[in-house]
Amino acid sequence: MTISEADFSKLAEAAQLGAARAYCPYSRFRVGAAVLTSDGRIASGGNIENASYGLTVCAERNAVFRAVGDSESPTTIRAVVIYTPTPEPTAPCGACRQVINEFGPDAEIRSICDGAAELRYRLKDLLPEAFGPGNLAHPGS
Ligand code: THU
Repeated sequence: MTISEADFSKLAEAAQLGAARAYCPYSRFRVGAAVLTSDGRIASGGNIENASYGLTVCAERNAVFRAVGDSESPTTIRAVVIYTPTPEPTAPCGACRQVINEFGPDAEIRSICDGAAELRYRLKDLLPEAFGPGNLAHPGS
């Protein structure tokens, strides 16, 4: 199901807040993301880089981990909005697609920016034939 424009506006605002709080002194590429859960919660995050570059964590994963880590019950992700202060929107990287799939295989993904262009996907389009919990003989609980 597609999210409402009211929910989208709240997610866009939260993603912009995530970008404002990003820590990206090395790339100077600021990213914010916001996640809407099926129980109506919104969690946001920015990319957090590290002097040991490979330890950087993307905005999308920080937002997902906040949503999941803050909940007492299992989390389902309905939508993710990604904001970059760039002229063109940015789609999520492969690692983030895999992490979103764990909690939101049917999630709606929208990327927004400072320009008019916007990207809209379903996670399934971005990560076809995904490997997920169902592939394991004994999925974790
Ligand atoms: N980045 C994200 O936060 N999300 C993505 O989907 C792609 C890349 C961050 C990681 C790094 O801090 C910076 O953008 C440049 O790669």
